[in-house]
Amino acid sequence: MLTLGIETSCDETGVALYAPDRGVLAHALHSQVAMHEEYGGVVPELASRDHVRRLLPLVRRVLADARVEVSDLQGIAYTQGPGLAGALLVGASVAAALAYGRGIPAIGVHHLEGHLLSPLLSARPPEFPFVALLVSGGHTQLMRVERVGRYALLGETLDDAAGEAFDKTAQLLGLGYPGGPAISRLAETGDARRFRLPRPMLASGDLDFSFSGLKTAVRELVAQAPDDAQTRADVAAAFQAAVVDVLAAKSLAALADTGLDRLVIAGGVGANRHLRGVLEARATAAGAWLYYPEPELCTDNGAMIALAGALRLAAGEAAALAPGFTVRPRWDLASLEAPA
Ligand code: KG4
Ligand code: ZN
Repeated sequence: MLTLGIETSCDETGVALYAPDRGVLAHALHSQVAMHEEYGGVVPELASRDHVRRLLPLVRRVLADARVEVSDLQGIAYTQGPGLAGALLVGASVAAALAYGRGIPAIGVHHLEGHLLSPLLSARPPEFPFVALLVSGGHTQLMRVERVGRYALLGETLDDAAGEAFDKTAQLLGLGYPGGPAISRLAETGDARRFRLPRPMLASGDLDFSFSGLKTAVRELVAQAPDDAQTRADVAAAFQAAVVDVLAAKSLAALADTGLDRLVIAGGVGANRHLRGVLEARATAAGAWLYYPEPELCTDNGAMIALAGALRLAAGEAAALAPGFTVRPRWDLASLEAPA
């Protein structure tokens, strides 16, 4: 089932072509990071307008790159939620119009399901079932993934998401948006042992997280510590070490609790090299296997949406053939159902 995937939930316009028997045929991405940077975060209205400008040219480019005609498409997958309502509507309306025009199904995909399944696109995909650590700008969750559409929530953040903590800490250190890549670059020249930051909820005995206290601790540290480049690098390293320590400990606890030995990292923070390194070491020591998508498929992209949509369409899930569409800016992942 040759499926076009469209992602417009936040600040990247992502388009890709995927077929289960051929993998990703082409994918293209336009990031709005430069546009939102001067505001220190995503401006929803600007995001929607930019998706309008970028989406159709990206669709044309992906089709041309894969030497595929619109008439070859067998299905269209789009991010239906969660995300910014206006941004979601751009992808949903283009998907619905294309699908209706061609008489093919359009399927609305849960953005986090895309992230969860994205390691299936890697050269060494995991088998089901597995534990997934989903760490993005808006979510921090541990899920038990039985198969496509069967997700049980094991634990989640009670306040800030891990990516949000990276972004806010970056702001405190005077770094740009998004903060994750900037912090991890700066941390490479820092000494994580100079400052000791708290590991929130490390010993809470459950699989939940909390990152807002860590942000406060960084704010206090920055206010007291000298203001020089080395200190900023040391704070970045200490912050990254604290977040990674908690994420790794809870992920390993989730493996122990479920008795599973496959761990998947997905979502933007999954691109963090220190996180991957620590998880790899601790998973190996525990006799478990770590899986993750290529770094470029960790952050938002159209390929993961095409994949999730194609798997659901292949499983016979009915998708809308009639005109009309809806988006779900708030949508609980655990409420999804598996295709029959
Ligand atoms: O999955 P994603 O692209 O978008 C959402 O669905 O939220 O994740 C974006 C988040 C941002 O908070 C960004 O700072 C973080 O992922 N991020 C990173 C890295 N690259 C992106 N965090 C830590 N280290 C990175 N290398
Ligand atoms: Zn995302």
